[in-house]
Amino acid sequence: MTEFATRQIQAGYVVGTPQNSAVPPIYQTAAFEFASLADAADLFALRTTGNLYSRNASPTQQVLEERVAALEGGTSAVAVASGQAAVAVTLLALAGRSGHVVAANQLYGGTVDLLQDTFDDFGIGVTFVDQDDPDAWRAAVTPRTRALFAESVANPVAQVLDIRLVADIAHGAGVPLVIDNTVGTPHLVRPGEHGADFVVHSATKFLSGHGTSLGGVVVDVGAFDFGADPERWPQFTGPYKRFGDLVLWERFGLGQSFAALVKSKYVHDLGPSLSPFNAWQILQGVETLDLRVSRQSATALRIAQHLQTHPAVAKVNHPGLAGNPWHPLAQRYLPRGVPSVFSFDLAGVVGQSEEEAQLRAARVIDALRVARLVANIGDARTLVAHPASMTHSHLNAQQREAAGISHATIRFSAGLEDPADLIADLDQALARL
Ligand SMILES: Cc1ncc(COP(=O)(O)O)c(C=O)c1O
Repeated sequence: MTEFATRQIQAGYVVGTPQNSAVPPIYQTAAFEFASLADAADLFALRTTGNLYSRNASPTQQVLEERVAALEGGTSAVAVASGQAAVAVTLLALAGRSGHVVAANQLYGGTVDLLQDTFDDFGIGVTFVDQDDPDAWRAAVTPRTRALFAESVANPVAQVLDIRLVADIAHGAGVPLVIDNTVGTPHLVRPGEHGADFVVHSATKFLSGHGTSLGGVVVDVGAFDFGADPERWPQFTGPYKRFGDLVLWERFGLGQSFAALVKSKYVHDLGPSLSPFNAWQILQGVETLDLRVSRQSATALRIAQHLQTHPAVAKVNHPGLAGNPWHPLAQRYLPRGVPSVFSFDLAGVVGQSEEEAQLRAARVIDALRVARLVANIGDARTLVAHPASMTHSHLNAQQREAAGISHATIRFSAGLEDPADLIADLDQALARL
């Protein structure tokens, strides 16, 4: 269907109510009335699909699911309460009982917490690897492995993943590649076009763009064939006991079975449902995704170029800059622009302790007046953070180093303000050093 800018405004919604609402309505209801008991029984048994109870699905949420699936070029999607929930239900559904995941070192700190702490409690193994080392990905795969996981563009260092390379390794091992495309956004990169099988988002960030609402989405690209190796994927190809031994792969097939499992089991049982109001808020943001992301990208690049020549800055981690180690991958995967989340390391910390480096960072951050100190990204407002003491503070020193973060690193998420104001703001704050 149509081009990206049309899809972000129209996909997933056909005016279908007697009220002819031009904008998708908020169906703020916990439950739905059934036409008859027979209809209710069919819905409960998965013999038919439809609205039953808003923990499992709601019409506003479904518009969002179809819209994000259309933007990522996928066949189905599940929207949940947060990006964290999207990552969790996706990997739980794939890993099954005592599975194993190979994940990049360069992940959002909350995802690292989930994988190394909660997944460990659940008996799901995780091996972390340097995402730029193909041999490490291959070596980490075991017979228990059920997914490879990475971010298309990691934060705060903005490493660009060679998606095709890691997808080929995953497929060689018979498992899907799951990509967190929160920072990348489907406007700049669509991982499914490069071999990824599932794409997750924190919709809290760029998809919303207004910073008002939490949400998450996972998209099935519709390419991974669970039926090709039925013994490895009993959750899709074997009997689903609670539904009278229904086989999801037979009932829903390629591109739909994953969403059916995630909704009927993980969202149903664990309950991380997206509220209709938040789904609606995220839809408002999606309508302007390409415009916002393009402008934020251009602003970020301009600021990165400015910081590169600033004497108070030792290093700028922005793959749009020639000489950045991920510049060639950015040229290949991000022809429409590099994401607006990047970071820079302050100068003058060589030989200093972590505490001293953090004090320097605090002097700059606390002096900023236009950019705001907030633990979020992808907002219309420009936001800064200090990853070592905020988003990535649970990582040990080794993990932080592997992710490319030091106590002198400041993360910058360029918003929609005038770039000249942002540059002047940074200059006056850096002058405090
Ligand atoms: C790349 C990435 N993935 C996932 C998440 C988690 O999303 P949420 O905060 O919506 O739960 C975040 C949040 O910062 C993120 O940056």
